Amino acid sequence: MLDLSGKTALVTGSGSGMGQGIARQLAKQGAHVIVNDIFAEKAVASAKELNDHGLKATSCVFDVTDPDAIKTQIDKLTKELGGIDILVNNVGNAGAVQMEQTYFKESLPENWGKFIDVNLYGVMHCTHAVLPGMCDRGWGRIITISSGAGRVGLNIGVSIYGAAKAGSINLMRHISQEVGQHGVTCNAIALGLMDTVPEEFAAPIIKSIPCGRLGTPEDAGNMAGFLASNEANWITGQLFCVDGGAAPY
Ligand SMILES: NC(=O)c1ccc[n+]([C@@H]2O[C@H](COP(=O)([O-])OP(=O)(O)OC[C@H]3O[C@@H](n4cnc5c(N)ncnc54)[C@H](O)[C@@H]3O)[C@@H](O)[C@H]2O)c1
Repeated sequence: MLDLSGKTALVTGSGSGMGQGIARQLAKQGAHVIVNDIFAEKAVASAKELNDHGLKATSCVFDVTDPDAIKTQIDKLTKELGGIDILVNNVGNAGAVQMEQTYFKESLPENWGKFIDVNLYGVMHCTHAVLPGMCDRGWGRIITISSGAGRVGLNIGVSIYGAAKAGSINLMRHISQEVGQHGVTCNAIALGLMDTVPEEFAAPIIKSIPCGRLGTPEDAGNMAGFLASNEANWITGQLFCVDGGAAPY
């Protein structure tokens, strides 16, 4: 197992879903994981589940779209734990509200912001808050969970989401160029269709996934766990597709 002993990892939105799988994997590799969520009960329960398995985890509540709250919590965590070494920007979709699919020409401009806020501004705010400390300490990992919708066009009514996800991928590429000299790597993971989507939506699409199944939180966690490791220290500015082979280009 790729060892993360002594590292502190913040995983946003790890109270459930993919984030929970990522938090579990990083904790299994030895990291002390900060389980963030906008909902305290989810963050606390997810951290407790790790603690119950003998893993190191602490809950931390903030909204990734609130820069003041992020700064306050990062400052507090830095004092308590000596800084964040690994940040996984996992919060996405439509944030704490249900993801709605709407074709662009029918979409309302007042509804665009929620996608940009969580999928792009949230990534920017969290990254901005931890990057100076990582550079000062000479080691860091920024891993952003993006989506196939951020790589290709899809006829499923997710254009604004996809635009924000594409922005998050290129943000990683740019920042990677600025901080590589400080031992900090920045990469993105484009997830395919995962097992949290409603069955009626997933059923017709599974046929087009060569591996024949939806992705799981463990699949997301395995890629994040590798990118977080020392063994991945010459890999930066890249996008990795974790999608069961759905988009082989
Ligand atoms: N589920 C999929 O099929 C799929 C596919 C491709 C990409 N993705 C991406 O993977 C990531 C995780 O997806 P998921 O479906 O597991 O997530 P999700 O929507 O189930 O949410 C995960 C957690 O984030 C928390 N959260 C929501 N808004 C928050 C905020 N503003 N601040 C802090 N926490 C917040 C939620 O309470 C929840 O516990 C997202 O970036 C998503 O865009 C998911």
